[in-house]
Amino acid sequence: MLYRIAREFFFMQDPEVVHEMTIKGLKLTGSTPLSCLYSQKLPSKPVTVMGLTFDNPVGLAAGLDKNGECIDAFAAMGFGFIEVGTVTPRPQDGNEKPRIFRITEAEAIINRMGFNNAGVDALVENVKAANYKGILGINIGKNKDTPIEKGNDDYLICMDKVYQHASYITINISSPNTPGLRTLQYGEALDSLLSSLKERQSELTKTHEKYVPLAVKIAPDLTDDELAQVAESLVKYKMDGVIATNTTLDRTLVHDMPHASEAGGLSGRPVQHASTEIVRKLAVLLDGQLPIIGVGGIDSAVSAKEKFNAGADLVQVYSGFIYKGPKLVKNIVRNM
Ligand SMILES: Cc1cc2nc3c(=O)[nH]c(=O)nc-3n(C[C@H](O)[C@H](O)[C@H](O)COP(=O)(O)O)c2cc1C
Repeated sequence: MLYRIAREFFFMQDPEVVHEMTIKGLKLTGSTPLSCLYSQKLPSKPVTVMGLTFDNPVGLAAGLDKNGECIDAFAAMGFGFIEVGTVTPRPQDGNEKPRIFRITEAEAIINRMGFNNAGVDALVENVKAANYKGILGINIGKNKDTPIEKGNDDYLICMDKVYQHASYITINISSPNTPGLRTLQYGEALDSLLSSLKERQSELTKTHEKYVPLAVKIAPDLTDDELAQVAESLVKYKMDGVIATNTTLDRTLVHDMPHASEAGGLSGRPVQHASTEIVRKLAVLLDGQLPIIGVGGIDSAVSAKEKFNAGADLVQVYSGFIYKGPKLVKNIVRNM
């Protein structure tokens, strides 16, 4: 109810202004009694995935809290896990504004943020300052001005810095808004990245006496052949999980709607089916060898269930959460 009223107001404003206001508000209130405005007690539905025990299988997807500023606030909303980032080695501004657009009639969002973030060091400080003790994913990427041939270095720099503070680390190679990033999903580039990450993971495991699982986040726009190759590499390099999916470049389901021709990644209801199909195909290809985190267009308990039925072990929400608010998390968890 409260969120429905707030949404009326939010949706009259520019999406990025609302985003910044919300982050500020949640950051200020997250660990204060004012968090009662959005906190909710959910039934515990524990599940163990990637060797980690999650309070419930519904997580916050990356991109909403890029700098990890509101971890306690999102924890109060009952998420079973929280993924912060994408963060890059150095701070960067991202693309020119406007860079985020709502397509309200499709309950969708188009964004071309371009990894605007305060840099990995700032994120680590925010993580250290949070009271949250639950499962925290840290999503890492590369700076825009790092040449793609040197992309591996950026992931390794971030990995070194976040390793100690993360429950799991997500390797984001599927944002459409960093030129060339998605090429890391293919062939030799993927194999070279995964092999260096795996090697570094084993070194860091020794240094910190802690094994931090690595999950790779992929796009919904991969062809069947490309998906089969990705799955083969994930198994070959013993990745710990796969997150499917990021936003799509496909505009078929929104082509006649306002903002549909804006550049960027489309999320929300129009990506729901495509993401579920990727999860379904991955489940067959991987045959239980690594777990799948399903994300894309989840806006109800029913659409979450579709991801689980397709083979997801955990789910994440972003756009559905913008449209429905914290009650979405409650609805999904209660109906499990
Ligand atoms: C405004 C916006 C920013 C995003 N930023 C990131 C990001 O920084 N890193 C990332 O891995 N995914 C990012 N995503 C993708 C989401 O995490 C998610 O994979 C995608 O939106 C599909 O889920 P949804 O339909 O529930 O939104 C972003 C999505 C949106 C809408």
